[in-house]
Amino acid sequence: MSKILVTGGLGYIGSHTVVELMKAGYEPVIVDDLSNSHPKILDQITRITGKKPVFHQLDLKDEAGVRNLVTAGPNISGIIHFAASKAVGESVQFPLKYYHNNIYSLINLLNAYYGKAVNFVFSSSCTVYGQPDHLPVDENAPVKPAESPYGNTKQIAEEILRDTVASGANYKVISLRYFNPVGAHESALIGELPIGVPQNLVPFITQTAIGKREKITVFGDDYNTPDGSCIRDYIHVVDLAKAHIAALRLMETDSFKGYDVFNLGTGKGNSVLEIIHAFEKTTGVKLNYTIGPRRGGDIEQIWGQVTKAKESLHWQTELSIDTMMASAWAWEKYLSNNPL
Ligand code: NAD
Ligand code: WQD
Repeated sequence: MSKILVTGGLGYIGSHTVVELMKAGYEPVIVDDLSNSHPKILDQITRITGKKPVFHQLDLKDEAGVRNLVTAGPNISGIIHFAASKAVGESVQFPLKYYHNNIYSLINLLNAYYGKAVNFVFSSSCTVYGQPDHLPVDENAPVKPAESPYGNTKQIAEEILRDTVASGANYKVISLRYFNPVGAHESALIGELPIGVPQNLVPFITQTAIGKREKITVFGDDYNTPDGSCIRDYIHVVDLAKAHIAALRLMETDSFKGYDVFNLGTGKGNSVLEIIHAFEKTTGVKLNYTIGPRRGGDIEQIWGQVTKAKESLHWQTELSIDTMMASAWAWEKYLSNNPL
């Protein structure tokens, strides 16, 4: 069985990907420092899959620790690198924390496995496009100056990976530019675990619905969009997880060489108000929401051109906005009855 190192494998997207890897016959080896995840997620993965994956608690900033993974750890054929700090606002306040964690961890990993034949999947983001000039945005659109240190770490990381591949290292690399991942596993045993007050829309919606937050504020209804609220390309986290397996499969072919980038989204945009109404309709729960001012740094609208992933990865999304809302809600209810 092919072993895949999954950094950040106990986090939101990582845990769903570990489940899909196991379903696809891979053996994930999880590395996580638990800085933004809970050790119980390992048990939840075990409950879903019937098998406990190998887990190393390790901070990827620990250079010696990462080198030790190579010497003492198993032979791996691939790495899926999720581990990073991801709070945009915090990155503005503490940029060095973000450059240190997101860039240094990547460099440690690449140095440690340098020369070995490893297929590497990197978690990038549609944030690299800023506000695109054309919609849907495709992979050839220019990378715009980053709005935040977090966004900049994704741009820098993509460049580091491209240059490393070009240097003749034995790596094959795919950067996946995620649009907005939402929802949870159908078992409701894993999902997004925001620490403190959620910054993202869907966890804020579910926490409002369950009564943890009094109301949700729509950040602006005066944008140049049909209903005035911002538009994003929301993608179910399980669809997203499956794309990582498709990326590994592509790199396992001889025809794939070097470095490539793929958008991962549905190819459709939904506004904030549409998401709120979809949640209400699917769950039957009325949301207490108000319209507030715009949030600084928000882009007006973005959705992805996803034909490249469809053609080369033979992957496309299957799960609807309603399934995204229903699964996010089931996870929120599970958490309130079974606090981690
Ligand atoms: P997450 O915070 O839930 O998962 C990241 C995991 O990495 C956590 O479990 C955390 O404990 C771990 N980690 C962080 N730093 C580490 C380190 N130095 N050593 C070891 N483990 C470390 O985040 P997520 O939403 O699952 O995101 C996964 C990846 O996808 C990140 O790289 C993120 O930037 C990227 N991404 C996320 C989104 C999103 O909206 N969630 C969108 C685009 C890109
Ligand atoms: C979605 C929409 C908000 C909360 C961020 C990062 C990006 C990324 C994903 C990683 C926006 C609106 C939100 C609320 C609201 N990740 N909103 N009320 O802004 O697309 O992207 O997370 O790479 O880098 O910037 O996602 O979920 O925060 O917001 O009206 O309480 O919901 O204004 O229009 P965003 P989000």
